[in-house]
Amino acid sequence: MIMQPKLNIVPFVSVDHMMKLVLAVGVERFLTELAGYIEDDFRRWELFDKTPRVASHSHDGVIELMPTSDGKLYGFKYVNGHPKNMREGLQTVTAFGVLADVGNGYPMLLTEMTILTALRTAAMSAVAAKHLAPKGARTMAIIGNGAQSEFQAIAFNALLGIDRLRLYDIDSSASRKCAKNLAGMGFDITICATGQEAVEGADIITTVTADKQYATILTDNMVGPGVHINAVGGDCPGKTELHRDILLRSDIFVEFPPQTRIEGEIQQLAADHPVTELWQVIAGKTEGRKSTRQITLFDSVGFAIEDFSALRYVRDQLQSTGLYEELDLLADPDEPRDLFGMLLRAKAAAAA
Ligand SMILES: NC(=O)c1ccc[n+]([C@@H]2O[C@H](COP(=O)([O-])OP(=O)(O)OC[C@H]3O[C@@H](n4cnc5c(N)ncnc54)[C@H](O)[C@@H]3O)[C@@H](O)[C@H]2O)c1
Repeated sequence: MIMQPKLNIVPFVSVDHMMKLVLAVGVERFLTELAGYIEDDFRRWELFDKTPRVASHSHDGVIELMPTSDGKLYGFKYVNGHPKNMREGLQTVTAFGVLADVGNGYPMLLTEMTILTALRTAAMSAVAAKHLAPKGARTMAIIGNGAQSEFQAIAFNALLGIDRLRLYDIDSSASRKCAKNLAGMGFDITICATGQEAVEGADIITTVTADKQYATILTDNMVGPGVHINAVGGDCPGKTELHRDILLRSDIFVEFPPQTRIEGEIQQLAADHPVTELWQVIAGKTEGRKSTRQITLFDSVGFAIEDFSALRYVRDQLQSTGLYEELDLLADPDEPRDLFGMLLRAKAAAAA
């Protein structure tokens, strides 16, 4: 006899299960495999429903919904960004997400995405750098050593072989935390006293700071020829990290231009400033890095398709690992139209 699936149940991946999943797979392998899912989805970019994320801005932060669909599956992420949270003992970024079946609209997965966002952001950055960073790059400066920073380091190690890190944060305890967490993973780590010191000799510069303002984490004189910049922290209107002059000297690669023009570093530029869509590079339709002296910039803001890839990846791990709970999420009356009858039967059962 074929077992009927439990129609009320949606697999739920809690924070505890996500941590167990990442540890069971291994962080490096998780990031590498997730990068593969992202590349697969970027190669079929044109299939997807795409829209800039729906953002609700407030004085202290932003809450965003990020939906997309490939016609078979639908995914969305809820995510916030509140730079002041860290000072109150809270995460700057928290997230959860859903994957659903387009055929019947039923959710197929509900999962924590705070950890998953850090993983997908790092995997996305490393995928971009694979195509844009100078060949043989080994040294990366990471400016901003908060929650995302270790994930970035490990992804760049796993996908590009980066093994020398130069860390800088306005709060030196963040750099010490980052160095301590990465100890024993094969990195040669230098903690730097200034951003200027951090970028010395770096092939790749990652900026991943959190501040709700037009910040200037990198000034023009800090960026020499041939460098790849992975600009992660500027991801909201009025929240950027790079001096405008750097943008004018760089070849700029973006996820989804209509969203990046609102949220990315390029909000500082004219609306028609030329940018290259990263999917075109990944799909082999256009070139990434063309010369050794070129400055390449990945103006990362985080796009829904990356979260969709991450949701697909997590869903594909569930059966083999069993690392989820069964969540009684969907009302499933015996007769579909008898939703109210289900309520009455529950009342009768409670009374008995
Ligand atoms: N592009 C994306 O896809 C994406 C995804 C996730 C997060 N983000 C962004 O990345 C940023 C970092 O996120 P997080 O979770 O690591 O935040 P976090 O608050 O944990 O860490 C941010 C760090 O930046 C440091 N910092 C702030 N101003 C600085 C400055 N001027 N110079 C040097 N260091 C400075 C802080 O001291 C802190 O240690 C946020 O702005 C977040 O919105 C982007």
